[in-house]
Amino acid sequence: MALATKTTLPFLLLLLLVISIFITPSNSATDSFVFGGCSQLKYTSGSPYESNVNSILTSLVNSAMFTSYNNFTMPGSTSQDTVYGLFQCRGDLNNGDCARCVAKAVSQLGTLCLDSTGGALQLEGCFVKYDNITFLGVEDKTVVVKKCGPLISSYSDALTRRDAVLGYLAASDGTYKPFRVGGSGDIQGVAQCVGDLSPSECQDCLSEATGRLKTECGAVKWGDMYLAKCYARYSEGGDHSHGEKVGGAVENTWLVA
Ligand SMILES: *[C@@H]1O[C@H](CO)[C@@H](O)[C@H](O)[C@H]1NC(C)=O
Ligand SMILES: *[C@@H]1O[C@H](CO)[C@@H](O)[C@H](O)[C@H]1NC(C)=O
Repeated sequence: MALATKTTLPFLLLLLLVISIFITPSNSATDSFVFGGCSQLKYTSGSPYESNVNSILTSLVNSAMFTSYNNFTMPGSTSQDTVYGLFQCRGDLNNGDCARCVAKAVSQLGTLCLDSTGGALQLEGCFVKYDNITFLGVEDKTVVVKKCGPLISSYSDALTRRDAVLGYLAASDGTYKPFRVGGSGDIQGVAQCVGDLSPSECQDCLSEATGRLKTECGAVKWGDMYLAKCYARYSEGGDHSHGEKVGGAVENTWLVA
């Protein structure tokens, strides 16, 4: 009954403040901020809700030392006070880097989403989300961040290589592959699903992300497409900046989820 009520409830207004940051080329980009957003609703300081949020966030940080994905549910006295949380590290991070990334994301969430009933934050290396709305296991293909680099100057090999990389990232061989890396020449791509999606939902989400990169960005040198539960990105040499901010289209969105 509680579940039925929740699904019919209008979604909590989630104000996503999308902040675009052009990172400097670096391999230690794990900590770089990609986006964050907080629900507009605030909980009362010192309430049981607050301690549930703190327990969830602490559990996420601790768990990230051992695994690249996990979810937690902290039951409250009422369903409104039940808090859900998850984290997802990029598939190539080791446990130490994953834990460091999640700790950093949680600490930034604490500042960005002070006393908010829900929040989500994506760093280059990890994603963290908590809320009192059940989002666990729910596929969500809302576009959160779309960044398109400058056009490929000549319709040369670069576009063919780009298409090959996106094709690889979107390809399904029937196995569950939540983390995908592919390269062709100097074009490198990466894709990641949040671990609460089923294999078919993950596949569907990544098809959508890569498809949108192609259709919405066009023939560009690099692109990032972050959907709520998965992302796909590609660039030349795995580097998104190359000082090519000029000509890059950046979408700053106030999203209502
Ligand atoms: C989440 O918490 C807020 C603040 O307590 C409350 O107004 C809202 O109804 C809750 N949402 C759900 C789905 O329980
Ligand atoms: C949440 O975590 C539990 C315990 O690790 C796991 O059994 C369950 O499949 C997870 N749920 C989702 C939606 O990921």
